[in-house]
Amino acid sequence: MLTKSAAHNRMESMKQLALLTTLWAFILLSHIPLLPAEAPAPEQPATYVGNEVCKACHATQFEKFSKTLMGKIFLFNPRDEREKQACENCHGPGSNHVAAGGGKGVGGMITFRKDSGESAKVQSEICMSCHQRGVQTYWQASPHANRGITCVNCHTIMEKTTDRFQLAKLGERTVFYDKRAEIEVCGQCHLQRNAQLYRSSHMPLREGKMTCTNCHNPHGTPNPYQLKQTSVNENCWSCHTERRGPFLYIHPPVFDSCTNCHEPHGTINDRLLKVTDPRLCTQCHMGTGHPVTPRGQNSVFFFNRSCTNCHSQIHGSNHPSGRFFTR
Ligand code: HEC
Ligand code: HEC
Ligand code: HEC
Ligand code: HEC
Ligand code: HEC
Ligand code: HEC
Ligand code: HEC
Ligand code: HEC
Ligand code: HEC
Ligand code: HEC
Repeated sequence: MLTKSAAHNRMESMKQLALLTTLWAFILLSHIPLLPAEAPAPEQPATYVGNEVCKACHATQFEKFSKTLMGKIFLFNPRDEREKQACENCHGPGSNHVAAGGGKGVGGMITFRKDSGESAKVQSEICMSCHQRGVQTYWQASPHANRGITCVNCHTIMEKTTDRFQLAKLGERTVFYDKRAEIEVCGQCHLQRNAQLYRSSHMPLREGKMTCTNCHNPHGTPNPYQLKQTSVNENCWSCHTERRGPFLYIHPPVFDSCTNCHEPHGTINDRLLKVTDPRLCTQCHMGTGHPVTPRGQNSVFFFNRSCTNCHSQIHGSNHPSGRFFTR
């Protein structure tokens, strides 16, 4: 038994040795003939060659890009040396790419391809070299930048897409008037927010009258939830000015945040309410007596607008006797 197993072991290790040797031989052999080809002359740092050179091989891209706002400026009306660099502004200096005859992955161009291995940061920084102000001011600190999202997730650059903003073309079926296109762009990642727009109660986003960027700046803001305004209430008041007050009698949860009762992206309850009445009110108003005593389903406390049948000024009242928001 012992000898048999020893012999077996020796056989096994010899097999392994043979396998290893063949493997090494294979690796060596497969590399030796390739070595000269793998060590080309040390590459010169690339220099700018000008867009006419690019045009020679990339006539289609040149043509398409020239229809966009940036194309029109860079290719035909450059206002400074930087803009004159046109194609190479974004793709980097092209002399090595051109000298090698062009090609995919050739000459160290920045490609903005998803599978290029370029980091989101590198890609964004190219755009940020011209777009670091205005709506992009807070980009670097934004949750989008921090989650590895880059400009080209939302913008298509090489061909004219939307009327303004070059919003990303997601597919042949994408609708292309600005506001709807934008909701589709955001909706590809924010599936739940997108779905909420189709609930019975919603602001007119899906009707094309409003869009996500009425409230959010996707490039980042110093405010919570990337809101354009400094707080949720400031955001709501920017359109629903009548809710700002000032009121003689303030209902504290309204002053605190409209989202105590409303869900801005859409709900299945009337008036974007998070919960149906009277549950909405009884979340906070508990106790004995008038407000919470159980009543029949057909009582005025449930019927129609429930508690707001009587407390109609629920957002605040200016009536001298409006303490209970009934007038
Ligand atoms: C403002 C930045 C920018 C400029 C300027 C620019 N590109 Fe691009 N290019 C991109 C981005 C971003 C992509 C990735 C695809 C996209 O977003 O459209 C791309 C993709 C490409 C591609 C590969 C994909 C394809 O469409 O075939 C080529 C080739 C190309 N560009 C050539 C050019 C040429 C030639 C010019 C000058 C006429 C140019 N680019 C100017 C940003 C730019
Ligand atoms: C001699 C012809 C030639 C010239 C000149 C040329 N290219 Fe290319 N380039 C190609 C070919 C071929 C490809 C590969 C085919 C493709 O992806 O469309 C390519 C690919 C690219 C790509 C995509 C690279 C990738 O890895 O996906 C970019 C970006 C690009 N070229 C930019 C430029 C720019 C900018 C210039 C001008 C500085 C330029 N090219 C000049 C032939 C050329
Ligand atoms: C050389 C400077 C420069 C670079 C680099 C640059 N841009 Fe622009 N971009 C401009 C100018 C100039 C305009 C014209 C509008 C303006 O003056 O703001 C513009 C306009 C735009 C617009 C609005 C287009 C429209 O039709 O309304 C978008 C979106 C945009 N750029 C995105 C990008 C992205 C994404 C990148 C990187 C891939 C980029 N830009 C790189 C200078 C630049
Ligand atoms: C999450 C999606 C998203 C990302 C990421 C994004 N954008 Fe935008 N961008 C938009 C939308 C939507 C608009 C149009 C509405 C607006 O102005 O906010 C826009 C508008 C713009 C405009 C034109 C508006 C103006 O007033 O100047 C420029 C320029 C621009 N983006 C550049 C960039 C650059 C540069 C980056 C990367 C640093 C970037 N964007 C990243 C969605 C995005
Ligand atoms: C490529 C995917 C992608 C796209 C496209 C996208 N987002 Fe986002 N968004 C994210 C991710 C990832 C986060 C971070 C989520 C987290 O950290 O929980 C985020 C976060 C947010 C937040 C929350 C910010 C906060 O402080 O909590 C808002 C608001 C937002 N996005 C709005 C938008 C809008 C508006 C658009 C369209 C213009 C858009 N997003 C497009 C991926 C995307
Ligand atoms: C009427 C203003 C308004 C519109 C339009 C709007 N939002 Fe919001 N969004 C808000 C407010 C306010 C908040 C923060 C309060 C909350 O939690 O609901 C928020 C929060 C978010 C968040 C972060 C949620 C979280 O739980 O952290 C995301 C993501 C978001 N919105 C995406 C979108 C997208 C995508 C669209 C377009 C389809 C959109 N929003 C349209 C007002 C709006
Ligand atoms: C950009 C403008 C704008 C902003 C900002 C805005 N709204 Fe609206 N809101 C509208 C419009 C437009 C309507 C539809 C009015 C109509 O149909 O008469 C509406 C309708 C509503 C309705 C009634 C919905 C219904 O089903 O009757 C509620 C509730 C509401 N908004 C709450 C909010 C809250 C809460 C905020 C802040 C998170 C907010 N709104 C921010 C424009 C806005
Ligand atoms: C305490 C809960 C509560 C808070 C907080 C609250 N609301 Fe309301 N809101 C309601 C109720 C309940 C209704 C339905 C009123 C009705 O049926 O008469 C309503 C209705 C609305 C409507 C639709 C009005 C109409 O006539 O159709 C708008 C717009 C609105 N609220 C905006 C706001 C804004 C803006 C804020 C923040 C400043 C806010 N709400 C905060 C409970 C609240
Ligand atoms: C998020 C919690 C919250 C919700 C939801 C809420 N309330 Fe209130 N409500 C309060 C607080 C806090 C006060 C102030 C109580 C105080 O001053 O003692 C208040 C005060 C009131 C008052 C005046 C009471 C007094 O003694 O001055 C009335 C009436 C009232 N709420 C009715 C409602 C109705 C009706 C609803 C549903 C539409 C509602 N509330 C929803 C928190 C809430
Ligand atoms: C039939 C009209 C009516 C309906 C419906 C109604 N209320 Fe009242 N409520 C009043 C009146 C009137 C007062 C003032 C009572 C007083 O003067 O003592 C009041 C007072 C209140 C108060 C302050 C007094 C206290 O007891 O703290 C709260 C809170 C309140 N209601 C909440 C609610 C809630 C929550 C609902 C829905 C479940 C509701 N009300 C439905 C008429 C109504």
